[in-house]
Amino acid sequence: MKKIISLVLSATLVMTALIGCGGANSDGEPQAEGVESKDIIVGVSMPTKSLQRWNQDGANMEVSLKAKGYKVDLQFAENEVETQVNQIENMITKGAKVLVVGSIDGGALSSVLEDAKAEGIKVIAYDRLIMNTDAVNYYATFDNFSVGVIQGEYIEEKLGLKDGAGPFNIEIATGPLDDNNVVYFYGGAMSILQPYIDNGQLVVKSGQTTREQCATPNWDEKEAQSRMDNIITANYTSDKLDAVLCSNDSVSLGVQSSLKSVGFGTADKPMPILTGQDANIANVKAIVAGDQSMSVFKDTRALSEKVVEMVDSIANQKEPEVNDTETYNNGTYVVPSYLLKPEFVDGSNYKSLLIDSGYYTEDQLK
Ligand code: BGC
Repeated sequence: MKKIISLVLSATLVMTALIGCGGANSDGEPQAEGVESKDIIVGVSMPTKSLQRWNQDGANMEVSLKAKGYKVDLQFAENEVETQVNQIENMITKGAKVLVVGSIDGGALSSVLEDAKAEGIKVIAYDRLIMNTDAVNYYATFDNFSVGVIQGEYIEEKLGLKDGAGPFNIEIATGPLDDNNVVYFYGGAMSILQPYIDNGQLVVKSGQTTREQCATPNWDEKEAQSRMDNIITANYTSDKLDAVLCSNDSVSLGVQSSLKSVGFGTADKPMPILTGQDANIANVKAIVAGDQSMSVFKDTRALSEKVVEMVDSIANQKEPEVNDTETYNNGTYVVPSYLLKPEFVDGSNYKSLLIDSGYYTEDQLK
C-alpha cells in the first residue's frame, strides 16, 4: 500500500513539474500556465501579406504564442496554394505539434494535412474552413453568415426597404469561389436582399446575382474594379446605381475606384451605398471621407486570442472550448468551431469601436 501511495505521489510530482508551472522557464522565457510549452513548435500559416488583416492576424498570433513560451514558425504564402502547401510541409518536417492554417484554397490542403495527421499533429483552421478532410481538428472564425446579414441589413435599412421603398438599382460583388467563407458572406447577405430582388424593390441591372457570377478571384481589388467597370459601362451610363453589396474591404476599394473613374462621388452623382468587411485602415478612411458606407469589424485580436487558447488546450491534452458543432460541415464532417461575433462599423461608431478600443490610433486614420 505504502509503495502504491509513494508511486502515486511521485507520479503526481512529475505531473506537477511537467504541467503545473506557469511563469518563466529555465531560460527565463515566459511560459504558459500549466504547460511545458518551451519545446512546442506551433506552425502558423497565413494566406498572404497583401491584405492588412492577415499581417495583423499573423503578428498577433506570433506575439501571443511567444509570450506563452511556444516556438512559432510563421509563414505567409502570397496567395499561392503551392507555396502554402510547401510551407506547411516544412512545418511538419521541423516537428510542429500544432498547425494554425488560414487557407488560400480550403479544398487544396487535404493531402498535406494527411501527412500532419499521420504525425499526430493537431490542426486548427484559422478564419477559413479547410474542406474535405478529417485532418482538421478545430475551426476558429467569426460568424460568417452574420457578417453577410449585417451587410444586407445595412442596405435594407439605408434604402428603407422594409417600408416598401424602391425600386432601387443594386449590384453584388463577393469573394472567390475557393474561400468557403464566401458561401456564408454571400448567403447571409442574400438572405436579407433576395426577397427584395424577388418583389422588384431591388433591381440588379447586370443580371449577375449568383455567387459564381459575382465572384472576385483572390479577393483582388483590381479584379473587383474591372468587373465593376464592365457592369457600369453596360448598365449605368445613364441609370443611377443605389447600392453595391461588397463582401469585403478590398472588393469595396476596387468598386470605389471604378465608380470614381466614371464620376461617382460628386454632389450630382453621389456614391451608392457601399458595404465592406474588415475595417481596414484605407476603408475606415474611406468611410470618414464618405466614399464607403460601412464595414464589418472583426477584431483580429480576439480571434488570435481564442486560437492561442485552443493551442494551449491541445498542448495540455484538453479539449479546446468550442461554441458551434452544427454549422461548419467541411464535406467530411462537422468541424467543432468557435465563432466570434462580428460588428458593424460606420461613421457613427468607428471612434468608439476602433480608436477607444486601441485597435487603431487616431493618427493611423488621418
Ligand atoms: C476573410 C475576410 C477577408 C477575406 C480576404 C476572408 O476569408 O474572412 O476577413 O476580407 O478573406 O482576405
